[in-house]
Amino acid sequence: MENNIKNVEEELESNLSKVESLEEIENARVGFLGKKGKITCLMQQLRDVAAEKKREMGMKINALKQKAEGLIAARKEAIENKIEAEKLKSAKRYDFTLPQKACEGSLHPRSIVQKKVEDLFISMGFVVEDGNEIESEFNNFDAVNVPANHPARDAQDTFWLSTGEVLKTHTSAAQNRIIRKYGAPCKAIFPGRCFRNEALDSGHENTFFQLEGVVIDKDVSVANLIYFVKKTLSSLFGKNLEVRLRPGFFPFTEPSFEMDVQCPFCGGKGCPTCKNGGWIELCPCGMIHPKVLEMGGVDPKEYSGFAFGLGLDRLVMIMNAIPDIRFLNSGNLKFLKNFKLD
Ligand code: DAH
Repeated sequence: MENNIKNVEEELESNLSKVESLEEIENARVGFLGKKGKITCLMQQLRDVAAEKKREMGMKINALKQKAEGLIAARKEAIENKIEAEKLKSAKRYDFTLPQKACEGSLHPRSIVQKKVEDLFISMGFVVEDGNEIESEFNNFDAVNVPANHPARDAQDTFWLSTGEVLKTHTSAAQNRIIRKYGAPCKAIFPGRCFRNEALDSGHENTFFQLEGVVIDKDVSVANLIYFVKKTLSSLFGKNLEVRLRPGFFPFTEPSFEMDVQCPFCGGKGCPTCKNGGWIELCPCGMIHPKVLEMGGVDPKEYSGFAFGLGLDRLVMIMNAIPDIRFLNSGNLKFLKNFKLD
């Protein structure tokens, strides 16, 4: 028996030293450790060994079995590594440090229009501010005169966070912070992303952009507001446009208006962009409510002001004849590649 074990051990060593492929190593494993393998047979022969030698022989066979398992595993790993190294050697090589053919990017149409509007306002002495996307309930509602239980809260289907904060439903949410920051007089615009739980269609998105503005000073009047919006929109569209004022309602302005602009494409005659009406609804606005000024720390007896909320996405759509608002957030490169900053 002892000799048999020795022979199998020698055979194992010489066999494994010749093994070169995964197939051969598998054959070796079956040949020594498989059901009918040489080491398994040694185990079976243990039955015939004299009782006093059984324990010693058993231990030797077990040691051999462990040795075989270890050697086979090690050899297998060495072969696998060799195969991997050969694969790498013959693999196609790339030099990632070489300069690449220029891949031309482009700005999102919203960024292009936003930049245009910002430049225009900066040239008129406005500061440009950012609003938060996550806002306190106070800033989004209470500070713009929409207390809890005010029916106007229902008009903005709001995403509430578990913290009690909201995804801001309008850029007006930054009014309080900005009025507090600059005090009076103040001229600021604040473009930003807004969120509402909207049913999506060609004109509604749950994530959209507005651009808000406030002007606060002594003796600011509705006449200033009309003149200002008319000049701004005319400048944006590059031609002299008429505006028209309709009464509106917003809790944070008194009086409130809907400002329509004469269709820049047909001059008011009627076309698909203005849905044949000749006017485009673009700019809700009004005189800032005294309570909003007060909550911002400005004395409404001394100062007055106006605010407006341009639908930035709407403006982008009009300026570029984009028929569906959902294109703007689609990430569709075919669509996005059409826009270049001029
Ligand atoms: N925050 C309003 C909305 O999202 C738009 C708006 C209306 C803003 C009148 C204003 C304003 O600043 O004066 O519906």
